[in-house]
Amino acid sequence: MAQVLRHVKTTTEDPRLLVGLDAPDDAAVYKITDDIAIVQTVDFFTPIVDDPHAWGRIAAANALSDVYAMGGTPVTALNLIGWPRSLDFEILGRVLDGAGATCEEADVSIVGGHSVDDPEPKFGLAVTGTVHPDRVVRKTGASPGSLLVLTKPLGMGIISSGIKEGNTSEETARIAIDVMSRLNADAARVMVAIGVEAATDVTGFGLIGHLLGMLGDSLDATIDFESLPVLHEAFDLAAQGVLPGGSKRNLEAMADRVDLGDLNDAATAVLFDAQTSGGLLMAVEPSKAAELLGELAVTGVTGTVIGAVGDGTGRVEVVSA
Ligand code: CO
Ligand code: CO
Repeated sequence: MAQVLRHVKTTTEDPRLLVGLDAPDDAAVYKITDDIAIVQTVDFFTPIVDDPHAWGRIAAANALSDVYAMGGTPVTALNLIGWPRSLDFEILGRVLDGAGATCEEADVSIVGGHSVDDPEPKFGLAVTGTVHPDRVVRKTGASPGSLLVLTKPLGMGIISSGIKEGNTSEETARIAIDVMSRLNADAARVMVAIGVEAATDVTGFGLIGHLLGMLGDSLDATIDFESLPVLHEAFDLAAQGVLPGGSKRNLEAMADRVDLGDLNDAATAVLFDAQTSGGLLMAVEPSKAAELLGELAVTGVTGTVIGAVGDGTGRVEVVSA
């Protein structure tokens, strides 16, 4: 993808473009006035669960998340729909209801959209938000010694694959849908109030991929495997060979930048698992970590310290007991 994006021309000379393709982040940020910048992002995908209403909720939470990851507040959204003529439009109605419910919860107005005839159903949203130009939270900017905090459990890609293949328990499927439908709104609000060095949301590149993105070439990180929040059945499914294509590609592309110790294959799979609507991954100064976790808990968000940033060179070391 990065290769292809090189062909996209951006107006780099425009000083109002605060975050663009020069240093890609979760969303683009464009300054309108000294007090207001707009945050723009788009995300859509094929069905990840069988229940159309849940698909809509998850797609909306996932699309809105990139605005939250920038420290922004989403304001409006546009529906993006690819739908086969052969498929009941009643089902699409339920997808849209789900997305509508999540946007309402986020206080976001759906103001339009576009649909095309498509042999494979696809759904997502283009989202516009606002942020103060001086308070944009970038994915880079962490410093050595800062702690890494994650706000949602991992394993959602593996579990979604398991749901499609019919070998995930109903209980785990229900929890996973709940996790993926949850907004990162409260997590973002607390993050901005406390102040963090850097943040991103964990999505298609998995925990390791997004962490490497935060680190760049001048930082490294140590992850404490035992501390990772994981929806446990993901380990069982991975051990049975359930692994989405995106997670496999992550593993192939990034394994050489990670020291895994003697971690088994199922545990490794979870580290590289492509997430949908994952949590925020933040780098916070150690002195602020307790307050951050405390304030997250007040809003019902479980933040977990999963490791620390070091001053190495773009690598991740995973330690386990
Ligand atoms: Co993102
Ligand atoms: Co995105």
